[in-house]
Amino acid sequence: MSARPAPRVGALPRRRRLTVYALSTAVWLTGAVWLYFKYFVRVVDDFGFENQHPQQGWWMIAHAMASVGLVWSFGVLWLGHVKPGWKKKLRRLTGGTLWGFIVWFALSGCALYYIGSEAARSWVSFLHWIPGLILLIVFLVHIRNRSDPSTAADDP
Ligand code: HEM
Ligand code: HEM
Repeated sequence: MSARPAPRVGALPRRRRLTVYALSTAVWLTGAVWLYFKYFVRVVDDFGFENQHPQQGWWMIAHAMASVGLVWSFGVLWLGHVKPGWKKKLRRLTGGTLWGFIVWFALSGCALYYIGSEAARSWVSFLHWIPGLILLIVFLVHIRNRSDPSTAADDP
């Protein structure tokens, strides 16, 4: 009878992996749908003026809420995933890029609440959502080729 192989560094237990996928999808989609409403959907009122669609605001509330969850899950991944993976030099490029992106999104997202100048706000906005859309590719490259799930560490 062969012994159970040692857990693979960085492999996530099922529940944690699904939580990260759900939160990442929610953050990305709510941001993308907000962009769709902002740039492609307008409603015309009774006086002929174009206004933003009422759903636009709701999608941003959903985005802000999901992003709090994602930052929390990032904290949960720190000890069991990011640090050991980095020490073993595994997937450093995509993992480190994801890490940097998330820190930047958290900082720039908060800044969007407080920046007074319209011009500065619109720059920070672009610098938030353009890399945000690109993040999906980095994420997909990072999670490719999962190791055997039976060797993932158990959920504590
Ligand atoms: C420097 C930072 C990071 C390193 C070194 C790293 C390392 C790794 C490694 C080695 C794997 C493959 C595990 C396996 O054998 O299946 C992996 C998978 C994964 N990583 Fe990272 N990672 C980092 C950052 C992140 C961040 C910030 C996130 C999420 C926001 C993340 C989410 C995931 C997910 C969801 C998987 C797939 C796990 C699985 O299929 O079980 N990683 N990472
Ligand atoms: C950890 C990741 C992220 C965090 C913490 C985060 C956080 C935030 C916060 C706090 C806001 C401001 C909300 C408001 O004004 O009510 C915001 C706005 C926004 N986010 Fe994110 N976000 C993240 C990732 C993303 C991603 C991946 C996308 C890409 C689709 C994205 C797209 C947007 C857009 C389009 C806005 C609106 C910008 C504006 O008001 O001009 N975000 N984000």
